Amino acid sequence: MEKKEALYEGKAKIMYATDNPDQLLVYYKDDATAGNGAKKGTIVDKGIMNNKITMFFFDLLAKEGIEHHVISMPSDREMIVKKLDIIPLEVIIRNVAAGSLAKRLGLEEGTPMSMPIIELCYKNDDLGDPMINNYHVLACKLATKEELAQIEAMSLKINDILVKYLKTKNIDLIDFKLEFGRDKDGKVILADELSPDNCRFWDTETHEKLDKDRFRRDLGNVEDAYKEILRRLTGEVR
Ligand code: ADP
Ligand code: TMP
Repeated sequence: MEKKEALYEGKAKIMYATDNPDQLLVYYKDDATAGNGAKKGTIVDKGIMNNKITMFFFDLLAKEGIEHHVISMPSDREMIVKKLDIIPLEVIIRNVAAGSLAKRLGLEEGTPMSMPIIELCYKNDDLGDPMINNYHVLACKLATKEELAQIEAMSLKINDILVKYLKTKNIDLIDFKLEFGRDKDGKVILADELSPDNCRFWDTETHEKLDKDRFRRDLGNVEDAYKEILRRLTGEVR
């Protein structure tokens, strides 16, 4: 597999072309941003840890029948993935009130929801990823009705699998963000990453935050949180 030109540099990853037109190489950076790029910093070795954590979760999900974009992990910071037509939605699944939901509805952070909540945001940095609903998705033709139904069903199944698994590691899955894309046959599959950058993980007993909120909110011990998630999932001590 040959790494060719960079096609896109995002806030956390760089996407490279490869000698296979259907595959991309993803390079995970240590750059960290919050507030749609308003706050910038570095989390040492985040790229390595997020690559490994994503690989771990995607393997777990594949065993439970969730189709995803990852093909292989050629190095600590790199992944080969299927090139997808990304559906421009950030799909947020919430089990417990935190972050923007807590703020918006005046709920205390940590309030359990009686059922999972799915929120959709239009993936557009210039607009600040505004929240939209199913009607906007259909009216603006961001996805079809069938695709939306698949996205919702897959998101809820992924949530079930992750919540159950993480419980065994003493981690509560508070909320997380997913992205989906269409493969060359038009099939909707799971894309992007699953890591402390786009999930909220709390220790079940102490409720300690083990995710990017430590960076967003200047809580300190940022690297330690990523290391702890990697250790609990894979046993690797960094
Ligand atoms: P952002 O674009 O939000 O700054 P990243 O730095 O994580 O985010 O960049 C990765 C980009 O690659 C995202 O825009 C994401 O939607 C896109 N992406 C993820 N998986 C794939 C894939 N399999 N094919 C094409 N694009 C992808
Ligand atoms: P929020 O409470 O800030 O809306 O975030 C909800 C979840 O979604 C949280 O786990 C972080 C994740 N998320 C992203 O991954 N990218 C984003 O751009 C936003 C706003 C949230």
